[in-house]
Amino acid sequence: MTGNRIDPASIREAVRDRYGRIAQQGGGCCTSSACCDDTCVEDPTQLGYTAEDLAQIPEEAASISLGCGAPVKLANLREGETVLDLGSGGGIDVFLAARLVGPSGFVYGLDMTDEMIALATRNAQKAGVSNVRFIKGEIEAIPLPDASVDVIISNCVLNLVPDKERAFREIWRVLKPGGRLAVSDIVVDGGFDDLLLSEEQIRAALSWTGCVAGALTIDTYLRMLQDAGFVDARVTVRYRYLSDNPSALPESLRVLPEEQQRALLSRICSADITACKP
Ligand SMILES: C[S@@+](CC[C@H](N)C(=O)[O-])C[C@H]1O[C@@H](n2cnc3c(N)ncnc32)[C@H](O)[C@@H]1O
Repeated sequence: MTGNRIDPASIREAVRDRYGRIAQQGGGCCTSSACCDDTCVEDPTQLGYTAEDLAQIPEEAASISLGCGAPVKLANLREGETVLDLGSGGGIDVFLAARLVGPSGFVYGLDMTDEMIALATRNAQKAGVSNVRFIKGEIEAIPLPDASVDVIISNCVLNLVPDKERAFREIWRVLKPGGRLAVSDIVVDGGFDDLLLSEEQIRAALSWTGCVAGALTIDTYLRMLQDAGFVDARVTVRYRYLSDNPSALPESLRVLPEEQQRALLSRICSADITACKP
């Protein structure tokens, strides 16, 4: 169950609108009123990158970090590899990956929001980075040929995609045999069955564009990756965002007993996800 009862086209429009506004404001997660606000962190070094990593890339890309982890650290990138970043935003992970794959490698950033593509392209031009290209498109229909990239990374984006099965099929299609997937994403660690409201009611009350309502459970994530053909799929919880923040629950979920509210909040996590295409 992925909250798909909500119309996918409306979700996509709401997501595009929200991230378009963030790109125009040029602010990071917590300086903006419109982003993955339920799961954002103030300082990108909390995601797993070091200050030294961030000093190597355009400042504007680091300062509009909207991620929930450090997929470039998970990906073990090698010189000469071709990388695709899904939902590249201002380009933070694209620029970090571009340094690791070097001039003989290449990094594509894919985003469906015009303003993000324009911002990231400006960042690349200003910094004179030539082994990157930002392309407009949706993850559910990636505008790249079959078996064309070595590694796919993504940072806090797949939870926002309404048709996740299609997204995983596309990820599989564009990866070369032997290719790798390294993703940071919001997941739900556990299920909803023990709670007094149904999963559907809970997801409907949570925010899609805030990166929570569309988050997969860990079991569903693993199953979808396996169904798409991936092997060695792993989901590792990094951080429980909301355990200490009861005010993160919308009013309509405060009808749950307090103990269940705490249980629900503690299940919303950022996780590292890796898998391989054999
Ligand atoms: C939470 S932001 C993360 C941006 C970036 N990965 C980072 O770490 O800063 C989500 C980004 O994904 C893009 N996005 C969301 N859904 C998408 C989809 N279905 N296809 C392409 N891009 C998408 C949004 O436009 C936005 O730029």
